Amino acid sequence: MCGIVGYLGKQDSVPILIKGLKRLEYRGYDSAGIAVMNGNNMHLLKKAGKVRELESAIDDSVLTGSVGIAHTRWATHGEPNDINAHPHQDHTNSIALIHNGIIENHGVLKQVLEQQGIEFKSNTDTEVLAQLISSIYYSDGLTFEQAVRAALQKVVGAYGIVAINKREPDKLVAARFGSPLVLGVGDGEYFLASDASPIVEYTRNVVYLDEGDMAIITSEGYTIKKIFDNQIVSREVATLNWSYEQIEKGNYPHYMLKEIHEQEQTIIDTMRGRIQVEKGNAHLGGVHDWLPRIETARRLYITACGTSWHAGLIGKYLLEEYAGIPVHVEYASEFRYREAIIDSETVVIAISQSGETADTLAAIRKAKGKGALTLGICNVVGSTISRETDCGVYTHAGPEIGVASTKAFTAQVTVLSLLALNLGRRRGLSRSQGQKIARALASLGNKVHRILKNATQVEKVAWETQYADNFLYLGRGLNFPVALEGALKLKEISYIHAEGYPAAEMKHGPIALIDERMPVVFIAPHDHTYEKVLSNIQEVKSRRGKTIILTDKKTRDIVELADYMIEIPTTHQHIFPILASIPLQLLAYQLAVLRGCDVDQPRNLAKSVTVE
Ligand code: G6P
Repeated sequence: MCGIVGYLGKQDSVPILIKGLKRLEYRGYDSAGIAVMNGNNMHLLKKAGKVRELESAIDDSVLTGSVGIAHTRWATHGEPNDINAHPHQDHTNSIALIHNGIIENHGVLKQVLEQQGIEFKSNTDTEVLAQLISSIYYSDGLTFEQAVRAALQKVVGAYGIVAINKREPDKLVAARFGSPLVLGVGDGEYFLASDASPIVEYTRNVVYLDEGDMAIITSEGYTIKKIFDNQIVSREVATLNWSYEQIEKGNYPHYMLKEIHEQEQTIIDTMRGRIQVEKGNAHLGGVHDWLPRIETARRLYITACGTSWHAGLIGKYLLEEYAGIPVHVEYASEFRYREAIIDSETVVIAISQSGETADTLAAIRKAKGKGALTLGICNVVGSTISRETDCGVYTHAGPEIGVASTKAFTAQVTVLSLLALNLGRRRGLSRSQGQKIARALASLGNKVHRILKNATQVEKVAWETQYADNFLYLGRGLNFPVALEGALKLKEISYIHAEGYPAAEMKHGPIALIDERMPVVFIAPHDHTYEKVLSNIQEVKSRRGKTIILTDKKTRDIVELADYMIEIPTTHQHIFPILASIPLQLLAYQLAVLRGCDVDQPRNLAKSVTVE
């Protein structure tokens, strides 16, 4: 949420910062701004709207310089307009600050500053921090770094910040507490960003700042210290393992479509070196040493938000069925605030594409504090959740940029399938059962390919249902979470209202909504619930609802009842959710395109939710 980027080096910072903002735009895109040092002058430009609005307002002859900061915003305090956009300056216009997070005690701090006669221009919490730094800097005779540190010690909340000061022009001062910050170390140049995507084009050497770290960067080098005790700390320089091409859109019109298509390969990447078809097992290096503790746990919790939570629901079915361990799936935002039974015999699995979601992070911190073992399933390597959990598995889906999660979801479900298989084999699942599951997983790439090749069957449905105001998604068992995820995808990007329900629950409410204008999507594989789902389809049909049936066999029943049929290649019933979710991603995508929506940056959403 909010993207921040900073540069200090030999090049003109402006093109680097603007390109960086475009890379980070998935984090928020309601307004953007930039501040650049040129000698002892600071130039600042801020605009409501997308980064392109800011870019087109830039006058290169004025806005140029080799030290700068820039920000793309997802509004929390104050509506998205030019004034509330970051960077925020102090009342002397010497200091400028970009911020990701929330300053919770901004009200009290603002009152104190107003009593000192300081006038505020914006409605933001960030301006309060800029003014606080300035007030301390001028009244206490401190250096800029010392003033930033002193101000941060008065702040309650979460932040990733970068600040500049025209009285100390060759300097970036950055800090993180609750919001991610990555330092890129180039050849005589330094980059700061919310994630590594603005940096990878220039250098692969990065330092992930830890909670409570402050980085002071000048052309001479960088120092990392702790905010609270001023101790210098050393942090490992990591090497980025993904390429610049991976974050380009290529020939696709949208990142989301690119990422849907990548699933043919990403699912294989997720399983690479992990799946053991002959042994009917899986090996997950990042959790292997912890398996004795996991397999003897009294309970597992899976905690996550959004799409990752849906993956967790599928994980519950698999883990309970294969390994026989009770699993509770909890929204992280609820879990963190309730008195769940957590002790040393508890394992808490956190699922997060970004590895930075504030609620999920808080949930694992709480679980750790109560003695639980924590396991992270994350996509972004080096992310906070992946670093703070005791053990974990990376999903290896590559950078996901479209705000609506697609390839990360199927990778998460794949990892959960491998984990359930591995734990299951240790707790009595037979080799032959394991082999069936492993074989089905191993043949997924080919089946995803067939679904993507057959995308026209989905395009037809989208074309004919594009004027619907509501959709209902129904499935049973493992396919109930698929229904939830299908509905979420649709509302996120097409703004069509959609609900996911367990198919039989339809009778307890949603059936009242069904008429000839209501498309109802059924996820109906030929498993042990098939006959039951068929009855539900009949119930919809007799109320003139439009039936869209995703199934793996074209039986007579289905042909008779389906207004539209989407065929899914046959597979093991536990693996079916991975395949079924892909046409639903395509359906949401097609409908969003037909309705002229901004697919990759849907209104009001952000990809990485680093505030509560
Ligand atoms: C936001 C995103 C979703 C994502 C959720 C959890 O809502 O828009 O796509 O599923 O956050 O994010 P995480 O990075 O923790 O998986």
